Amino acid sequence: MAPSLARDLALEQRAFLRRNRAGWADHLARVRSFLGEGLQAADPKAKVLILGAGSGLEVPWRLAPPSAVGWDADPLSRIRTLLRHGRLAPWVFEDLTGGMAELSATAYRTVREPWSGRIRAARTVSRRLAGLLGSLKPNPGPLRAWIGQHRPGTILAANVMGQFGVVAQRGVERAFGGRSIWTQDPEQVDPLEEAVSAWTARAVRAFLAALVESGADLWLVHDRGVLFGHQPATLAPMEEPWTAQLRAAGPLEASDPLCGVDVLCEIKDRIPEKHQRWLWPVGQGQCQIMEAIRIPPPAAFLSHNPN
Ligand SMILES: C[S@@+](CC[C@H](N)C(=O)[O-])C[C@H]1O[C@@H](n2cnc3c(N)ncnc32)[C@H](O)[C@@H]1O
Repeated sequence: MAPSLARDLALEQRAFLRRNRAGWADHLARVRSFLGEGLQAADPKAKVLILGAGSGLEVPWRLAPPSAVGWDADPLSRIRTLLRHGRLAPWVFEDLTGGMAELSATAYRTVREPWSGRIRAARTVSRRLAGLLGSLKPNPGPLRAWIGQHRPGTILAANVMGQFGVVAQRGVERAFGGRSIWTQDPEQVDPLEEAVSAWTARAVRAFLAALVESGADLWLVHDRGVLFGHQPATLAPMEEPWTAQLRAAGPLEASDPLCGVDVLCEIKDRIPEKHQRWLWPVGQGQCQIMEAIRIPPPAAFLSHNPN
């Protein structure tokens, strides 16, 4: 795994844990209850995999069977989980997209002069990079290999999928010396931003495909949307797409961390359960629309694995 990814994730996690958590109680109660149900429903004889386990703020590890394994590429996540829950679980520190190192390396090679390491003229180079990113196909190889070897009965994706795009953006920004190089004007098309967004959509689809193909009981929690600004919003009863649920007195500025991917369209013939959404006021001027979905194993898988 690229050391830069580990560093970016450690920095993100530190910033996340330092946020003012005044408005987080409802989110934490809901996410812990959903993931806790997944842990309690798990077959203790099979492995349980917790993806995006982080420091365990959202994961009730006391309900996790002894077979539970954490997965998070933040190098401090396992030790933070130990400090929070007194549990030194087996852990995997790999990149869940399988493609972050290639994305960062492509950005670095394209943006920097090989002889001096200096940044080339930003405008030209960002167009060229946008073109190159289009040919990258993130493939969660380490995740597929782990699933193939350990055959987990239950997989929890604990609020990690919506992070893929943020982390991909950081990888590209690093090539430009850490500067934010995105177009600030929402009316203007930014080819690089569109290319990173398309890369993220491919990464999310490939990740979901690996989970669905595992045949495991899936418990997914992720950011379904992000609202910016101070306009108060509420959620109407469940409706598709998620944007149709939004209610506010004035216009809302929303973004889609899954970059256009609809999770329900990716699960093929699997039948979702416990589908719910709620608002999480993360901080000043930012509110997350969270989504939780259980995707039970396919009937064919259960009949071959009666226990
Ligand atoms: C919003 S936090 C989730 C917090 C966590 N569920 C908890 O209970 O503390 C997202 C987590 O996903 C991890 N993550 C993000 N992108 C990742 C990737 N590509 N591979 C592995 N882990 C990743 C981050 O390190 C972070 O801990």
